[in-house]
Amino acid sequence: MKKTLAIVLAALMLIGMFSFASAEAKTYKVGVSIYQFTDNFMTLYRNEIENYFKSLETDDVKYEITMADGKNDMAEQTNQVRTFISQGMDVIILNLVQTSSADAVIDEIVAAGIPLVLINREPLAYDADGNTLDESYEGILNNAQVCYVGADARQSGTFQGEMVAELENHGDINGDGKISYIMIEGDPENIDAQYRTEFSVKALTDAGYEVECLDDQVGNWDQTKGQELCANALSKYGDAVEVVFCNNDAMALGASTAIIAAGRKVGEDIYLLGVDALEEAVQLVKDGEMTGTVLNDHIGQSHAAVDVAVKLLNGEEIENYYWVDYVKVNKAYVDAQ
Ligand code: BGC
Repeated sequence: MKKTLAIVLAALMLIGMFSFASAEAKTYKVGVSIYQFTDNFMTLYRNEIENYFKSLETDDVKYEITMADGKNDMAEQTNQVRTFISQGMDVIILNLVQTSSADAVIDEIVAAGIPLVLINREPLAYDADGNTLDESYEGILNNAQVCYVGADARQSGTFQGEMVAELENHGDINGDGKISYIMIEGDPENIDAQYRTEFSVKALTDAGYEVECLDDQVGNWDQTKGQELCANALSKYGDAVEVVFCNNDAMALGASTAIIAAGRKVGEDIYLLGVDALEEAVQLVKDGEMTGTVLNDHIGQSHAAVDVAVKLLNGEEIENYYWVDYVKVNKAYVDAQ
């Protein structure tokens, strides 16, 4: 009887010790707000944030991730941030709807003592007249617990232009001595859109080519809008359109549909460029239906964002800026993969 009691007691103690040990697993609360869930590229990015956090979990450390959809509405996103603060998030990862609201949002998060990782939409430094300065943003530089993880959009624009310059006819299909293009832009407030628009063309003029802009429209990163704008431009300017630059692949996929519908053929009578290297776009490059795209490395960026979030959770020192390189993706690159 005594022996049974001793065994039962010992077993109970063991169970007690075991549950004590597992109760020690630390769960960090991570709040992530994405500017808009329907964005093709940000969908890949946010899924990888979740996957990568999960892959870093151990018996002792867990991450509880709350993923919020900013619905492209800054007021909605500000509310989400306030909810994150009241829920006592241990770290926040933020893909701003409006970079011009960065100050207000950063201030609230910093005042609550929560570390912050900004991703994909870089807040900018402006001068007194509202012109963009080629400088780091003070709201980030002045806060040891705040950083930005992104890619330098100038590089992606330059790569787009270079892929045209590297073609045998340098994009001048009709041989009239100039490259006539249309530009389909993302959200104009977004630095990625501004830089891609500027640097794609700059790469051509820097290389000594003459360019002519037939049309420049805002497609807001959206596939349907890209298709509509490209279809309109093709019916208005017809064969004069030699190059279609799109600030991202979603819009380039739309443009591809419009190009096919207009009976044009990429590589023969028109060229088409995007950015992101979405799977569908890479397939089009492979099939010769897109001239090129640029890898916007969502894996590298999401991992860098999560790694720095983990550093912040561990109280380690961080940098204010983390940059991930773009990669040129033309047919030669795809075929070599
Ligand atoms: C991507 C776009 C995306 C945008 C969202 C850009 O870096 O290239 O596809 O829509 O980020 O902010």
